[in-house]
Amino acid sequence: MSISKIAVFTSGGDSPGMNAALRAVVRSAIYYNLEVLGIYRGLEGLIEGDFVALDERSVARIINRGGTIIKSARSEEFRSYEGRKKAYQQLIDHKVDALIGIGGDGTFTGLHIFQEEFSFPVLGLPGTIDNDIFGTDYTIGFDTASNTAMEAIDKIRDTATSHNRLFFIEVMGRDAGFIALRCAIASGAKAVMLPETHMEPSELLNHIKKGAKQRKTSNIVIVSEGNKNGNASELAALIKELEPSYDTKVTVLGHIQRGGSPSAYDRLLASRLGVAGVEALLAGKQDIMVGIKNEKIAFTPLNKAIKEHHHLCDELLHVIDILSI
Ligand code: F6P
Repeated sequence: MSISKIAVFTSGGDSPGMNAALRAVVRSAIYYNLEVLGIYRGLEGLIEGDFVALDERSVARIINRGGTIIKSARSEEFRSYEGRKKAYQQLIDHKVDALIGIGGDGTFTGLHIFQEEFSFPVLGLPGTIDNDIFGTDYTIGFDTASNTAMEAIDKIRDTATSHNRLFFIEVMGRDAGFIALRCAIASGAKAVMLPETHMEPSELLNHIKKGAKQRKTSNIVIVSEGNKNGNASELAALIKELEPSYDTKVTVLGHIQRGGSPSAYDRLLASRLGVAGVEALLAGKQDIMVGIKNEKIAFTPLNKAIKEHHHLCDELLHVIDILSI
Protein backbone atom coordinates (compact mmCIF):
# COMPACT_ATOMS: atom_id res chain seq x y z
CA MET A 1 0.00 0.00 0.00
CA SER A 2 1.39 3.42 -0.86
CA ILE A 3 1.64 6.08 1.83
CA SER A 4 0.98 9.73 1.14
CA LYS A 5 -0.17 11.01 4.55
CA ILE A 6 1.00 10.08 8.05
CA ALA A 7 -0.08 11.16 11.53
CA VAL A 8 2.17 11.40 14.58
CA PHE A 9 1.50 11.68 18.32
CA THR A 10 3.35 11.65 21.64
CA SER A 11 1.88 9.61 24.47
CA GLY A 12 2.38 8.47 28.07
CA GLY A 13 4.85 10.23 30.37
CA ASP A 14 6.62 12.92 28.37
CA SER A 15 10.38 12.79 27.98
CA PRO A 16 13.07 15.26 26.91
CA GLY A 17 13.69 14.72 23.20
CA MET A 18 10.09 14.02 22.21
CA ASN A 19 10.04 17.36 20.38
CA ALA A 20 13.25 16.46 18.57
CA ALA A 21 11.65 13.15 17.50
CA LEU A 22 8.51 14.96 16.32
CA ARG A 23 10.65 17.38 14.32
CA ALA A 24 12.55 14.50 12.72
CA VAL A 25 9.34 12.66 11.76
CA VAL A 26 7.75 15.79 10.29
CA ARG A 27 10.83 16.91 8.36
CA SER A 28 11.60 13.47 6.95
CA ALA A 29 7.99 13.00 5.92
CA ILE A 30 8.08 16.31 4.07
CA TYR A 31 11.46 15.41 2.54
CA TYR A 32 9.73 12.33 1.06
CA ASN A 33 6.72 14.40 -0.13
CA LEU A 34 4.28 13.10 2.47
CA GLU A 35 1.67 15.16 4.26
CA VAL A 36 1.84 15.11 8.07
CA LEU A 37 -0.80 15.58 10.75
CA GLY A 38 0.14 16.09 14.39
CA ILE A 39 -2.28 14.64 16.92
CA TYR A 40 -2.71 16.61 20.14
CA ARG A 41 -2.86 14.80 23.52
CA GLY A 42 -1.81 11.35 22.34
CA LEU A 43 -4.42 8.65 21.92
CA GLU A 44 -7.07 10.87 23.56
CA GLY A 45 -6.67 13.38 20.75
CA LEU A 46 -6.69 10.60 18.18
CA ILE A 47 -10.10 9.43 19.36
CA GLU A 48 -11.42 13.01 19.32
CA GLY A 49 -9.84 13.97 15.99
CA ASP A 50 -7.75 16.73 17.57
CA PHE A 51 -5.40 17.01 14.58
CA VAL A 52 -3.21 19.77 13.19
CA ALA A 53 -1.44 19.94 9.82
CA LEU A 54 2.32 20.27 10.32
CA ASP A 55 4.95 21.52 7.92
CA GLU A 56 8.71 21.93 8.21
CA ARG A 57 8.32 25.36 9.86
CA SER A 58 5.83 24.09 12.48
CA VAL A 59 8.68 22.18 14.07
CA ALA A 60 11.32 24.91 13.85
CA ARG A 61 13.22 25.76 17.07
CA ILE A 62 11.86 22.82 19.05
CA ILE A 63 14.85 20.45 18.92
CA ASN A 64 16.16 22.03 22.14
CA ARG A 65 12.83 22.19 24.00
CA GLY A 66 11.73 19.82 26.75
CA GLY A 67 8.17 18.48 26.96
CA THR A 68 6.14 17.93 23.81
CA ILE A 69 4.53 20.74 21.81
CA ILE A 70 1.67 18.44 20.75
CA LYS A 71 1.13 17.42 24.39
CA SER A 72 0.76 13.97 25.88
CA ALA A 73 -1.87 11.95 27.71
CA ARG A 74 -2.62 8.47 28.98
CA SER A 75 -5.92 7.36 27.40
CA GLU A 76 -8.40 5.13 29.20
CA GLU A 77 -10.84 5.18 26.29
CA PHE A 78 -8.29 3.73 23.86
CA ARG A 79 -8.18 0.59 26.05
CA SER A 80 -11.68 -0.26 24.82
CA TYR A 81 -12.58 -1.56 21.36
CA GLU A 82 -15.15 1.26 21.01
CA GLY A 83 -12.44 3.86 21.68
CA ARG A 84 -10.11 2.29 19.14
CA LYS A 85 -12.90 2.11 16.56
CA LYS A 86 -13.50 5.86 16.94
CA ALA A 87 -9.76 6.41 16.49
CA TYR A 88 -9.77 4.30 13.31
CA GLN A 89 -12.68 6.29 11.90
CA GLN A 90 -10.83 9.56 12.59
CA LEU A 91 -7.81 8.30 10.64
CA ILE A 92 -10.00 7.21 7.72
CA ASP A 93 -11.91 10.54 7.74
CA HIS A 94 -8.61 12.44 7.69
CA LYS A 95 -7.22 10.18 4.92
CA VAL A 96 -4.25 9.09 7.03
CA ASP A 97 -2.32 6.08 5.70
CA ALA A 98 0.01 5.34 8.63
CA LEU A 99 0.46 6.27 12.28
CA ILE A 100 3.63 6.93 14.30
CA GLY A 101 3.47 6.93 18.11
CA ILE A 102 6.28 8.24 20.30
CA GLY A 103 5.99 6.79 23.80
CA GLY A 104 6.57 3.81 26.07
CA ASP A 105 5.20 0.31 26.49
CA GLY A 106 1.60 1.45 27.16
CA THR A 107 1.63 3.33 23.87
CA PHE A 108 3.12 0.37 22.01
CA THR A 109 0.54 -2.02 23.47
CA GLY A 110 -2.24 0.25 22.21
CA LEU A 111 -0.63 0.59 18.77
CA HIS A 112 -0.11 -3.15 18.38
CA ILE A 113 -3.71 -4.04 19.28
CA PHE A 114 -4.91 -1.29 16.94
CA GLN A 115 -2.86 -2.69 14.06
CA GLU A 116 -4.17 -6.20 14.70
CA GLU A 117 -7.82 -5.11 14.84
CA PHE A 118 -7.89 -2.70 11.91
CA SER A 119 -4.86 -3.74 9.82
CA PHE A 120 -3.75 -0.12 10.02
CA PRO A 121 0.02 0.51 9.56
CA VAL A 122 1.59 1.69 12.82
CA LEU A 123 5.13 2.26 14.03
CA GLY A 124 6.55 3.18 17.45
CA LEU A 125 9.51 5.29 18.57
CA PRO A 126 10.67 4.70 22.17
CA GLY A 127 10.17 7.90 24.19
CA THR A 128 10.33 7.47 27.98
CA ILE A 129 12.82 8.47 30.64
CA ASP A 130 12.63 4.97 32.18
CA ASN A 131 14.65 3.17 29.44
CA ASP A 132 12.53 0.08 30.13
CA ILE A 133 11.84 -0.94 26.54
CA PHE A 134 13.09 -4.16 25.00
CA GLY A 135 14.71 -3.79 21.55
CA THR A 136 16.60 -0.58 22.16
CA ASP A 137 19.67 0.14 24.25
CA TYR A 138 18.38 3.64 24.96
CA THR A 139 15.02 5.38 24.91
CA ILE A 140 14.57 9.05 24.04
CA GLY A 141 14.84 11.07 27.27
CA PHE A 142 16.76 8.60 29.42
CA ASP A 143 20.11 10.30 28.95
CA THR A 144 18.75 13.75 29.84
CA ALA A 145 16.79 12.46 32.84
CA SER A 146 19.79 10.66 34.29
CA ASN A 147 21.98 13.74 33.76
CA THR A 148 19.36 15.88 35.53
CA ALA A 149 19.26 13.43 38.43
CA MET A 150 23.07 13.26 38.58
CA GLU A 151 23.39 17.05 38.74
CA ALA A 152 20.83 17.23 41.55
CA ILE A 153 22.62 14.46 43.45
CA ASP A 154 25.95 16.31 43.11
CA LYS A 155 24.35 19.33 44.79
CA ILE A 156 22.90 17.22 47.56
CA ARG A 157 26.34 15.67 48.05
CA ASP A 158 27.76 19.13 48.90
CA THR A 159 25.37 19.72 51.77
CA ALA A 160 25.47 16.06 52.86
CA THR A 161 29.24 16.34 53.26
CA SER A 162 29.06 19.63 55.18
CA HIS A 163 26.74 18.05 57.75
CA ASN A 164 27.93 14.43 57.77
CA ARG A 165 24.47 13.29 56.71
CA LEU A 166 23.02 10.16 55.21
CA PHE A 167 20.76 11.01 52.27
CA PHE A 168 18.21 8.74 50.64
CA ILE A 169 17.50 10.11 47.18
CA GLU A 170 14.59 8.71 45.21
CA VAL A 171 14.73 8.77 41.44
CA MET A 172 12.09 7.86 38.85
CA GLY A 173 11.63 4.54 37.04
CA ARG A 174 8.22 3.03 37.59
CA ASP A 175 9.36 -0.62 37.37
CA ALA A 176 12.93 -0.31 36.23
CA GLY A 177 16.19 0.81 37.82
CA PHE A 178 18.00 2.20 34.77
CA ILE A 179 18.03 5.84 35.95
CA ALA A 180 18.93 4.78 39.49
CA LEU A 181 21.84 2.57 38.49
CA ARG A 182 23.24 5.05 36.02
CA CYS A 183 23.17 8.06 38.32
CA ALA A 184 24.33 6.03 41.33
CA ILE A 185 27.53 5.18 39.46
CA ALA A 186 27.88 8.67 37.98
CA SER A 187 27.45 10.43 41.33
CA GLY A 188 29.57 8.03 43.39
CA ALA A 189 26.69 6.84 45.57
CA LYS A 190 27.28 4.51 48.49
CA ALA A 191 24.46 2.18 47.47
CA VAL A 192 21.61 1.78 45.04
CA MET A 193 18.28 0.10 45.74
CA LEU A 194 16.72 -1.29 42.58
CA PRO A 195 13.53 -3.15 41.62
CA GLU A 196 15.68 -5.71 39.79
CA THR A 197 17.91 -6.65 42.72
CA HIS A 198 17.31 -7.25 46.40
CA MET A 199 19.10 -5.84 49.43
CA GLU A 200 17.74 -6.17 52.96
CA PRO A 201 17.82 -2.94 55.03
CA SER A 202 20.17 -4.70 57.50
CA GLU A 203 22.59 -5.44 54.66
CA LEU A 204 22.36 -1.83 53.54
CA LEU A 205 23.13 -0.67 57.06
CA ASN A 206 26.21 -2.90 57.28
CA HIS A 207 27.41 -1.54 53.98
CA ILE A 208 26.97 2.05 55.17
CA LYS A 209 28.72 1.26 58.48
CA LYS A 210 31.70 -0.10 56.61
CA GLY A 211 31.99 3.31 54.93
CA ALA A 212 31.80 5.09 58.32
CA LYS A 213 34.73 3.00 59.58
CA GLN A 214 36.70 4.20 56.59
CA ARG A 215 36.09 7.81 57.71
CA LYS A 216 33.51 8.47 55.01
CA THR A 217 31.77 11.72 55.98
CA SER A 218 28.60 11.58 53.94
CA ASN A 219 26.58 8.83 52.36
CA ILE A 220 24.21 8.87 49.45
CA VAL A 221 21.81 6.00 48.84
CA ILE A 222 19.94 6.12 45.54
CA VAL A 223 16.52 4.50 45.68
CA SER A 224 14.62 3.68 42.52
CA GLU A 225 10.93 4.51 42.95
CA GLY A 226 10.08 0.92 41.95
CA ASN A 227 12.29 -0.60 44.66
CA LYS A 228 10.48 -3.59 46.13
CA ASN A 229 11.37 -3.27 49.83
CA GLY A 230 10.55 0.36 50.37
CA ASN A 231 10.73 3.83 48.89
CA ALA A 232 13.28 6.42 50.05
CA SER A 233 11.22 7.57 53.08
CA GLU A 234 10.48 4.04 54.21
CA LEU A 235 14.09 2.93 53.91
CA ALA A 236 15.34 6.06 55.70
CA ALA A 237 12.93 5.35 58.56
CA LEU A 238 14.05 1.71 58.78
CA ILE A 239 17.72 2.64 58.90
CA LYS A 240 17.06 5.35 61.49
CA GLU A 241 15.28 2.77 63.61
CA LEU A 242 18.22 0.37 63.35
CA GLU A 243 20.82 3.10 63.91
CA PRO A 244 19.29 6.19 65.63
CA SER A 245 22.61 8.07 65.65
CA TYR A 246 22.44 8.63 61.89
CA ASP A 247 21.35 12.06 60.69
CA THR A 248 19.15 10.87 57.81
CA LYS A 249 17.46 13.02 55.16
CA VAL A 250 15.21 12.17 52.22
CA THR A 251 14.91 13.87 48.82
CA VAL A 252 12.48 12.76 46.14
CA LEU A 253 13.63 14.20 42.83
CA GLY A 254 10.28 13.61 41.09
CA HIS A 255 9.18 15.31 37.90
CA ILE A 256 12.25 17.52 37.60
CA GLN A 257 13.66 14.43 35.83
CA ARG A 258 11.04 14.64 33.10
CA GLY A 259 11.72 18.21 32.02
CA GLY A 260 14.51 20.33 30.63
CA SER A 261 16.36 20.76 27.40
CA PRO A 262 17.38 17.39 25.93
CA SER A 263 21.04 16.37 25.95
CA ALA A 264 23.01 16.15 22.71
CA TYR A 265 22.68 12.36 22.92
CA ASP A 266 18.87 12.50 23.17
CA ARG A 267 18.58 15.05 20.34
CA LEU A 268 20.71 12.86 18.10
CA LEU A 269 18.91 9.66 19.05
CA ALA A 270 15.49 11.27 18.49
CA SER A 271 16.60 12.64 15.12
CA ARG A 272 17.97 9.29 13.95
CA LEU A 273 14.92 7.33 15.08
CA GLY A 274 12.52 9.82 13.50
CA VAL A 275 14.20 9.60 10.09
CA ALA A 276 14.51 5.80 10.31
CA GLY A 277 10.84 5.52 11.32
CA VAL A 278 9.52 7.37 8.29
CA GLU A 279 11.88 5.51 5.97
CA ALA A 280 10.79 2.17 7.48
CA LEU A 281 7.12 2.96 6.81
CA LEU A 282 7.93 3.91 3.23
CA ALA A 283 9.80 0.62 2.84
CA GLY A 284 6.62 -1.22 3.83
CA LYS A 285 7.57 -2.05 7.44
CA GLN A 286 4.83 -1.79 10.07
CA ASP A 287 3.88 -2.95 13.56
CA ILE A 288 7.47 -2.37 14.65
CA MET A 289 9.45 -0.21 17.02
CA VAL A 290 12.55 1.59 15.79
CA GLY A 291 15.33 1.58 18.35
CA ILE A 292 19.09 1.68 18.62
CA LYS A 293 21.32 -1.32 19.36
CA ASN A 294 25.08 -1.11 19.53
CA GLU A 295 24.69 2.37 18.01
CA LYS A 296 22.89 1.01 14.92
CA ILE A 297 19.23 1.40 14.00
CA ALA A 298 17.30 -1.74 15.01
CA PHE A 299 13.72 -2.84 14.27
CA THR A 300 11.75 -4.91 16.77
CA PRO A 301 8.19 -6.20 16.29
CA LEU A 302 5.93 -4.21 18.64
CA ASN A 303 4.65 -7.44 20.10
CA LYS A 304 8.16 -8.40 21.14
CA ALA A 305 9.03 -4.90 22.41
CA ILE A 306 6.01 -5.11 24.72
CA LYS A 307 6.44 -8.69 25.94
CA GLU A 308 10.15 -9.01 26.49
CA HIS A 309 12.15 -7.46 29.27
CA HIS A 310 14.98 -4.96 28.96
CA HIS A 311 17.52 -6.13 31.54
CA LEU A 312 19.95 -3.97 33.44
CA CYS A 313 23.53 -4.39 32.29
CA ASP A 314 25.35 -6.88 34.58
CA GLU A 315 28.61 -5.07 34.05
CA LEU A 316 27.14 -1.85 35.51
CA LEU A 317 25.91 -3.79 38.56
CA HIS A 318 29.44 -5.12 38.96
CA VAL A 319 30.91 -1.62 38.64
CA ILE A 320 28.77 -0.17 41.42
CA ASP A 321 29.60 -3.12 43.69
CA ILE A 322 33.30 -2.52 43.27
CA LEU A 323 33.28 1.28 43.40
CA SER A 324 30.97 1.75 46.39
CA ILE A 325 33.28 0.07 48.94
O1 F6P B 1 7.22 6.42 32.76
C1 F6P B 1 7.83 7.62 33.08
C2 F6P B 1 7.53 8.02 34.50
O2 F6P B 1 8.15 9.26 34.74
C3 F6P B 1 7.92 7.00 35.57
O3 F6P B 1 9.28 7.04 35.89
C4 F6P B 1 7.02 7.41 36.70
O4 F6P B 1 6.74 6.32 37.55
C5 F6P B 1 5.77 7.86 35.99
O5 F6P B 1 6.14 8.20 34.67
C6 F6P B 1 5.07 9.03 36.63
O6 F6P B 1 3.91 9.29 35.91
P1 F6P B 1 3.00 10.59 36.11
O7 F6P B 1 3.73 11.76 35.50
O8 F6P B 1 1.75 10.28 35.40
O9 F6P B 1 2.87 10.77 37.58
